[in-house]
Amino acid sequence: MSAHATPIPMMSKKCGPLRGTANVPGDKSISHRSLILGAMAVGETHVTGLLEGDDVLDTAKAMRAFGATVTRHDDGSWTVQGVGVGGFAEPDGVIDCGNSGTGVRLIMGSMATSPITATFTGDASLNSRPMARVTDPLALFGAHSVGRAGGRLPMTIVGAQNPVPVRYVVPVPSAQVKSAVLLAGLNAPGKTVVIEQEATRDHTERMLAGFGADITVEDTNEGRVITLTGQPELKPQTIIVPRDPSSAAFPVCAALITEGSDVLVPNIGLNPTRAGLFTTLREMGADLTYENERVEGGEPVADLRARFSPNMVGIEVPPERAASMIDEYPILSVVAANATGQTVMRGVKELRVKESDRIDAMARGLRANGVEVEEGDDWWIVHGRGMGGVTGGAVCETFLDHRIAMSFVIMGFAAQNPVQVNDGAPITTSFPIFEGLMRDLGADIARI
Ligand code: S3P
Repeated sequence: MSAHATPIPMMSKKCGPLRGTANVPGDKSISHRSLILGAMAVGETHVTGLLEGDDVLDTAKAMRAFGATVTRHDDGSWTVQGVGVGGFAEPDGVIDCGNSGTGVRLIMGSMATSPITATFTGDASLNSRPMARVTDPLALFGAHSVGRAGGRLPMTIVGAQNPVPVRYVVPVPSAQVKSAVLLAGLNAPGKTVVIEQEATRDHTERMLAGFGADITVEDTNEGRVITLTGQPELKPQTIIVPRDPSSAAFPVCAALITEGSDVLVPNIGLNPTRAGLFTTLREMGADLTYENERVEGGEPVADLRARFSPNMVGIEVPPERAASMIDEYPILSVVAANATGQTVMRGVKELRVKESDRIDAMARGLRANGVEVEEGDDWWIVHGRGMGGVTGGAVCETFLDHRIAMSFVIMGFAAQNPVQVNDGAPITTSFPIFEGLMRDLGADIARI
């Protein structure tokens, strides 16, 4: 989204059953990677099902600025004419990644081992997020960076003239950091090794293998050891982007808390590095079933069926599951508010450095709407009020964060009084059809 998008205040109300089929858009993580790896391949990559949200559109613009030809066709498919590993041109202008941490961090990695310089910026949310987690390992390859205090954007990266491969133990559970290092490793001669102690989403590894890179993954006592051989010629691919489990989370959770609901969310990838929320919901007693389970493109896929679940109970979410549901804690906290008992979420420090401080943002809105929340640096507890027990009636601030906005809009469907959000504009970053899709299912959402 642009840095100065006009705020869109919204209000949602208690509504009747949500029923029907929710066709959610393409996976955001896979969409970014399709464009970036397509730009680093030699020849034309075809992409269908690309998420056309602002985050991904900003990455498409960035790839054009680095010299790739990125085209949207009338049938909604996209092609990327790549320039090859090490073939990026120096951009003329500043690269604006809007709201997207994934976009900026992966693109920084992809250019950091080429002898070019690029300056990156974003909106107020992105410009407040930490970038040292990416620029520190990029420095090991020989890249230099200059940014604002605290390693914030705007920031200039001077790519390494003579990159060297690195061995890097990722200090925080972050697929963005892991991916930035792997993408930088593409243009370093020799073997780049990335070790992660907690498994995070593995789309970069899978896609690099698909594009023909020499990449191996080994589970060892040290963690997941990923070894990439640099300077391959990446071969263009035909990519069908699966639907986004993180977007599916919203209609699924909406159905669970809205009386009488029965919603089908077809074709959702259940890659174990992404599906932690659905396991958690089932442990809470959600009526959530997997229909038509199958394997597509090497990934487990199912149609999710979610029905109103009035008797859910809070649980202690295992901390080791956090990476596989890191983007889903905001909407889980809304379900937790409608369950009985406490939902305890530990090992979630990373939530504090997302598009917003998501523990703080959710705690504020939940408390304003009558829900008790306790929090610490890397944990929080939501005290459930039972189904329909959220008082509502308050305005929630969304802090330029799409997932905070969607979570509070959905909270209104089961609250005793309407719930308002001060700004729903960020929703277009990941789920541009959210409002229409929810209304078609039967939700009562208004712009105010
Ligand atoms: C993403 C990784 C996660 C996630 C983000 C998408 C990715 O971030 O929160 O929405 O596509 O690699 P971190 O790597 O910071 O955990």
